[in-house]
Amino acid sequence: MQVKKGFASDNNSGVHPNILKAIESVNHGHVVGYGNDIYTQKAIEIFKEKFGEKTEVFFVFNGTGANVLGLSTVTHSFNSIICAETAHIQEDECGAPEKFTGCKLLPVEPVNGKLTPEAVQHHLKGFDFEHHSQPRVMSISQVTEMGTVYQPLEIIALADLAHKNGMLLHMDGARIANAAVALNLGFKAFTKDCGVDILSFGGTKTG
Ligand SMILES: Cc1ncc(COP(=O)(O)O)c(C=O)c1O
Repeated sequence: MQVKKGFASDNNSGVHPNILKAIESVNHGHVVGYGNDIYTQKAIEIFKEKFGEKTEVFFVFNGTGANVLGLSTVTHSFNSIICAETAHIQEDECGAPEKFTGCKLLPVEPVNGKLTPEAVQHHLKGFDFEHHSQPRVMSISQVTEMGTVYQPLEIIALADLAHKNGMLLHMDGARIANAAVALNLGFKAFTKDCGVDILSFGGTKTG
């Protein structure tokens, strides 16, 4: 039977054959588990090569886990996180970011799926005011949930604004590979080099 191709989720397709081959190629012999194996060490080395020596890497099972872990390591429960109304952390993670960070999510009406400095402006208030949750992170998705791609200058503008206000920029890179192809840039050029502080680097959707 011919099964229709479904584009509702990029998780609907099978694993890329090269990835299955790579998994098979290391599936022999014995190594120490829990991250102390040569393959994990090699993967960390590659991340450092791609993003810089100071990069810290934490492997997690899925995108929601990466977002929750990344955001919770830089926030306290009295903080807030600014994101697009359409952001996966706002719409599709069953409230996990709010539960595990304890932070208030501040959704913003996006422009073509993106945050802009103008759109986030009204949430940049209440700093040091003890009755107001303290804005700590701006979170963007690259590629966005609408399929649009932030240009490096758009990311720089948001990172500058965040840093000027003592905040950090998080990128949900569930589809970062697609963004790299669309921009024809290496990962670092539109993340670290543009001021991104925390990155959820997606692997699942690429197989
Ligand atoms: C932008 C974005 N972030 C995070 C996720 C979460 O990924 P996972 O389903 O692996 O938890 C998804 C999944 O669709 C996503 O589209």
